[in-house]
Amino acid sequence: MPFCSFGIDLGSTTTVVCRPGRGLVLQEPSLMLIRAGDRRPEPILIGAEAQRLQGRIRNGMAVVRPFRDGAVADLPAARAYLASVLRRITPRPWDRMRPRAALSVPTGSTALEQRALLEVAEEAGFGRVVLVPGPIAGAVGCGLDPMEPRVHLVVDVGGGRSEAVAFCYGDVLTSRSSRIAGEEMTLALRRHLRQRYRLIVDELTAEGAKTAATAPNGPLVLEGRDLESGRPRLVTMSVQEVGEVLSPVCEEIAEALAECLEELPPLAVMDILQDGVLLFGGGALVPALTEVVAAAFAAPVRVAERPLTCVAEGAAACMRWPDLRQAYAV
Ligand SMILES: Nc1ncnc2c1ncn2[C@@H]1O[C@H](COP(=O)(O)OP(=O)(O)OP(=O)(O)O)[C@@H](O)[C@H]1O
Ligand SMILES: [Mg+2]
Repeated sequence: MPFCSFGIDLGSTTTVVCRPGRGLVLQEPSLMLIRAGDRRPEPILIGAEAQRLQGRIRNGMAVVRPFRDGAVADLPAARAYLASVLRRITPRPWDRMRPRAALSVPTGSTALEQRALLEVAEEAGFGRVVLVPGPIAGAVGCGLDPMEPRVHLVVDVGGGRSEAVAFCYGDVLTSRSSRIAGEEMTLALRRHLRQRYRLIVDELTAEGAKTAATAPNGPLVLEGRDLESGRPRLVTMSVQEVGEVLSPVCEEIAEALAECLEELPPLAVMDILQDGVLLFGGGALVPALTEVVAAAFAAPVRVAERPLTCVAEGAAACMRWPDLRQAYAV
């Protein structure tokens, strides 16, 4: 029986798993509920079920993020989390026989971080694991051919990190990354609510408002705690106001990433001007980001059709594309 295989994107915000030929098999927040202080944590809940308890529990239990910035944040927690993910994606026990996987990693990840990830995946029960740069996987997931003799530029704005990568025929020409991404946008919204409306809101509420503002349905109503009295209070914000709060963060991201253009040869810049920049990751859903990326890179921008899942889809495609794995595998 052939080994079963998966493409996996262990994002700081979301874990996405795609099985070649079958499509998405998991898309859940990268969170896990454990008993606080456990040295060998056993996940009580993972994903959306764990997220529901975030901010609601305090003593005895904790909701943790096993991965941060595409790297292992906590070894035992990451191992336990990946083992749980493996059980979820393989309902039939025989599929669990050391399945193969392509894991996406940030372009700038260190050799030590990559070793930790490979070890954790192996201990969690995976068989042969290959690492592929996330932005390249995302490009493949959007239908680009990274082995084409043409320079492509992609921008991935996730939750904890933003990356821009230019690549051609198996070669990463240049890349830039920044810690400013979706979480920073949420933080800016929380700061604004505190300063302008004297309202304290939790991370989930702010993130919900940020996401809702990208599909405008009239004004947003946010629930929080009054800064002075501590009592619950509602605040109404327009979609436009949310956009104004997010814009400066988007500009900061675009400016940091556009620096990579300076290192490219003229022919590469010509290719990018003609084909445009491919944008994906959750940040791609913020309208302001598309505009500022286009301005900073002085090139048209194409937003991926499935910006939240294309990295895992591309990683799954890499499992069937040996040339690509050989050219770009890290
Ligand atoms: N509709 C939306 N509008 C605005 N932001 C969104 C939307 N959907 C998701 N996001 C944001 O996108 C971010 C998550 O994106 P994504 O899933 O690409 O990140 P990730 O891959 O988990 O993280 P990273 O790549 O940094 O490790 C979160 O900050 C989330 O709030
Ligand atoms: Mg990502």
